[in-house]
Amino acid sequence: MEQRRFGRLGWPVSSLGYGMWGLANWSDTDPDEVLRALDAAVADGVTFFDTAWGYGRGTSERLLGQLVRAHPSRRLYAATKIPPKNMQWPSRPEYALDDCFPPTHIREFAEKSLTNLGLTRVDLLQFHVWEDGWARDERWQRAMDDLKREGLIEAVGVSVNRWEPTNCLATLRTGLVDAVQVIYNVFDQAPEDELFGVCADLGVAVIARVPFDEGSLAGQLRADSTFPEGDFRRIYFGPENLGPTVARVEALQRDVPDDMTLPELALRFCISDPRVATVIPGMRRAAHVQANVTAVERGPLDARTAERVRGHRWDRRPTAWSL
Ligand SMILES: NC(=O)c1ccc[n+]([C@@H]2O[C@H](COP(=O)([O-])OP(=O)(O)OC[C@H]3O[C@@H](n4cnc5c(N)ncnc54)[C@H](OP(=O)(O)O)[C@@H]3O)[C@@H](O)[C@H]2O)c1
Repeated sequence: MEQRRFGRLGWPVSSLGYGMWGLANWSDTDPDEVLRALDAAVADGVTFFDTAWGYGRGTSERLLGQLVRAHPSRRLYAATKIPPKNMQWPSRPEYALDDCFPPTHIREFAEKSLTNLGLTRVDLLQFHVWEDGWARDERWQRAMDDLKREGLIEAVGVSVNRWEPTNCLATLRTGLVDAVQVIYNVFDQAPEDELFGVCADLGVAVIARVPFDEGSLAGQLRADSTFPEGDFRRIYFGPENLGPTVARVEALQRDVPDDMTLPELALRFCISDPRVATVIPGMRRAAHVQANVTAVERGPLDARTAERVRGHRWDRRPTAWSL
């Protein structure tokens, strides 16, 4: 598995990381298959794992802690996230830092996550939502610095709200953020416009999340797809988004080279940009882990295919359903 440099931190992380949201509470999850998938990932060289307290209120974190302890000889990087105090995803410009990340809340959930993980230190602690208007507020800066000085965390990250890739630039320029997590895929190419360049200049690591647009770019969606109550995809692939997405996937399918599958094309698109340190698909099945490992081992897309794929860019703005 290719190792990439995790920004100025220099950590050698696998270009294929692991997204641990779906395995916590998406419908039709098989817990035994999830354990097989996680072990298969470690066996195949995956070293970066992204979880959050908000993924099943600690369920996903406990699974990651278990995995790290089960593989003491491997250097596995654990990244988790502090939920906003008001439990609102995404954040809004009118929210004050106190609504989302007052210092006491940062401390409280850092400790909750360490307990769930059963680890003495988290490698990367991220804010699960963010507003660039909070950039200069020294209270979050001090709170994170205290956690670093006490050795409870190694690094600080920001998870940018869906379809707002620049809603963090002033924050990155404080020099106090080591990594940014952003939606980047065949449809959502906008992070290339400005964010990736700023990250490269500042040595901020880029984590590409949602490489499969919640499954559509993995060929999992049809015009009659439905999802049960409580499954995020029921909201995301609601009537406003399902039809347009299926149509765009069908158009993209026509540009998938014969020797490639759609999920392979989607994943290789994400690692074609060398400024991406790791891409973190959600995976609950060992077969998907194996397929994705094989895909990234085939490397970046060739220039002609990458250019054709670029034509499928789809710029979107936040909506009521785009959590
Ligand atoms: N605000 C935030 O910070 C935020 C928001 C969203 C996501 N994230 C992070 O990003 C990660 C990835 O995003 P996501 O899980 O929401 O969506 P995603 O990675 O775009 O899509 C996940 C879907 O793709 C399917 N899949 C994966 N590999 C496949 C393959 N080879 N063939 C066919 N289907 C495949 C998965 O199926 P199975 O599950 O059945 O394997 C799952 O249904 C999350 O897990 C989380 O870590 C963070």
